[in-house]
Amino acid sequence: MIINQNGIFHIQMEEYSYLFRIDPYGIVQHLHFGAPVRTEDAEGFFCHPGLGWGSCTVLDDADSGTCLDDKPLEWSGSGRGDYRESPIELSGRSTDFRFAGSRTYKGVAPFDCTLPQAKGDCETLEILLEQQGLRLKLIYSAFATALVRRTVLENTGSEPVSLNKLMSFSLDLHGDFRMTTFNGGWIAEMRRQDTPVGGSKVVNESLTGASSNRHNPGFLLWEEDATETSGRVYGFNLIYSGNHYAAAQQSLQGFTRVMQGINPSNFCRILQPGEQFETPEAVLCHSDAGFGDLSCRMHTFVNHHIVPEYWQGRPRPVKYNSWEGCMFDFSQRRLLDLADRAKKMGCELFVLDDGWFGQRNNDRAGLGDYAVNRKKLPEGMEGLADRIRAKGMEFGLWFEPESVNPDSDLYRAHPDWALTDEFTPVLGRHQLLLDLTKPEVRDYIVEKVSGLLDSAKISYVKWDMNRHSIALGAKAHDFVLGLYEVLGRIFGLRPRILLESCSSGGNRFDLGMLCFSPQVWCSDDTDPIERLTIQGNLSFLYPQSTFGAHVSAAPHAQTLRATPLATRGNVAFFGCLGYELDLKHLLPVEEKEVKAQIEFYKAHRSVFQYGEFSRTALGWQVSDGTTTIAGVFHTLVHAAPGYEKLRITGLNRDSVYSVTSLAQAIRVGQFGSLLKHVVPVNIDPNGALLRLADSRFTLKNAVEDLTASGAALHSGILLKPLFRGTGYDENQRTQGDFGSDIYIIVPKKQDFSEIK
Ligand code: GLA
Repeated sequence: MIINQNGIFHIQMEEYSYLFRIDPYGIVQHLHFGAPVRTEDAEGFFCHPGLGWGSCTVLDDADSGTCLDDKPLEWSGSGRGDYRESPIELSGRSTDFRFAGSRTYKGVAPFDCTLPQAKGDCETLEILLEQQGLRLKLIYSAFATALVRRTVLENTGSEPVSLNKLMSFSLDLHGDFRMTTFNGGWIAEMRRQDTPVGGSKVVNESLTGASSNRHNPGFLLWEEDATETSGRVYGFNLIYSGNHYAAAQQSLQGFTRVMQGINPSNFCRILQPGEQFETPEAVLCHSDAGFGDLSCRMHTFVNHHIVPEYWQGRPRPVKYNSWEGCMFDFSQRRLLDLADRAKKMGCELFVLDDGWFGQRNNDRAGLGDYAVNRKKLPEGMEGLADRIRAKGMEFGLWFEPESVNPDSDLYRAHPDWALTDEFTPVLGRHQLLLDLTKPEVRDYIVEKVSGLLDSAKISYVKWDMNRHSIALGAKAHDFVLGLYEVLGRIFGLRPRILLESCSSGGNRFDLGMLCFSPQVWCSDDTDPIERLTIQGNLSFLYPQSTFGAHVSAAPHAQTLRATPLATRGNVAFFGCLGYELDLKHLLPVEEKEVKAQIEFYKAHRSVFQYGEFSRTALGWQVSDGTTTIAGVFHTLVHAAPGYEKLRITGLNRDSVYSVTSLAQAIRVGQFGSLLKHVVPVNIDPNGALLRLADSRFTLKNAVEDLTASGAALHSGILLKPLFRGTGYDENQRTQGDFGSDIYIIVPKKQDFSEIK
């Protein structure tokens, strides 16, 4: 509900309150963003200036309390006494916007441009601010678990205006905060960094043209005592896939100014009289119950208001992807053989990755030419798709439509379609970007991709993008608008196609892409131990339904680390499961294990994809309110490990639950010469006999099977012992480095009184 009472605006939701007031000068002063309060509480949040502070520039010389610099503001300007960072910059001009009106309505405020936006049930408040020749709208859309803000600047004067910066929101929060950002690079996405926010500014920004794997646009601000289950935490994110910028800085008065929007670096837009500029939407979320609750609120928001409607809550298929197994080296025969194997394992979707078109036999040529390579696929895409579908699987295809190799027919025909500057082109992965600001380029992409999608029965698209942009400022923004137009034209008409966005892995994991693609390929790093960091840190802001998570071959291409197949599966379960390895090389024991993994995942798919997710002391937990599944993950083991306590949250303390663990095969090969201690013959650890045994026989890992109350599980149960160097036993978790277990907790029919 949005309340407007005596100059106080209150966005009053069940989960949060957001209050600000219009002061006698028409300045919008922030009051509160946090736990729900009453409108009558507003006065308690007033910032009383008293006699002001020393060295102030005041709006009204007769009133020493009218300095903008010391106040918590909902929006600020330049050149009028607020010397903190301004969310708006016009070339060489002051800005001093004053309140001019407001309106509220049901639903969102639709964009005039192609920017994507949050959708669904909400109420919107528009605050109109004006100064001579300019009109600024602050737009607030109140969704159940998050507030969405954006701004629109309109030139109402008669002269052009040069806009250098316009943030989606600015906000002054009282408190001492730390800022968590997620940084990295290729195969190293989402590395968490915590920085105290003090008098020096903390900035999170990307300048690569995309939201980037270097600095994800999502970030957190939290008070020092916050934990997973308690304390004050804010989450912020931008519904945008281009260069972003966010900053936080604390003032002497104890207000932390936080803002987010399009990166102003090199940005300049000339607004002609009558023209307007719209910023992307920013998402603001609060919890006073810790990181876990904040994440759940963000997850709910993304699942209900960001991903395309058709895919909201819809089960995602278990897929097989050809990339890591085949790379560019395949024929229809090889693909069909893989498809047979994938089907036998239980996969539901077969995805043909890169290499199916033009001269695309390596990454140096062919991008841009989407004619099917008939040498590799003699029956064309339709033929291949039909054959795969005849096996009982859906068929999906990889595209990289935003890029072009100079060695391609497209580039030879239209060199001017590539995005270049006045210098010799700089290549990234041997490619250039196409200039999506040009309508003819957008038409080409729409025509080529749509044509293919309609020529064969394709129900999934992996939309890749593998280079950074050189476009600066406003052109970089127009590129992103062009991309959104293209995605809208192709997939708006084909909403049932499952789109998975990818950009060298997680180089564009953002809410803008998620408005079109319900899933994103998290990273080209498929090592499960690395994925604990990548998926674990993504989980602060994004739900597991959005994670493309695959099991690949070990040793891993990215780390050379060998990890157990069980752990590869156990980590990928907490996302949208897929397999990406040459299935032909699976040993019989591995085939059996993969089959069992897929069967288990399918039985619990909705809990894994849409259950409430928590980060726990030992790993991750998901729950749909009935079934709870906990993953316990190990990295490097220590000798003589102590007991581990598994704590399960969210259960009914008085109910009784059965706790079982997923049976797991222990490969005999991993014991090498140690086998002589458990079998009567002295087996050569490097010999053929061990290799044969390893491919066919497995040992048992401890299986949990007990009954416990919710109260006991809440306080924690002791798990079966880990291997301690004293021998093999069926009741021990004999796993070694990178081992893991999955526990399934479901209510038992009877309760304690019946047991008595
Ligand atoms: C990128 C993607 C990979 C794969 C290759 C194909 O690196 O992230 O998953 O699709 O391109 O060239």
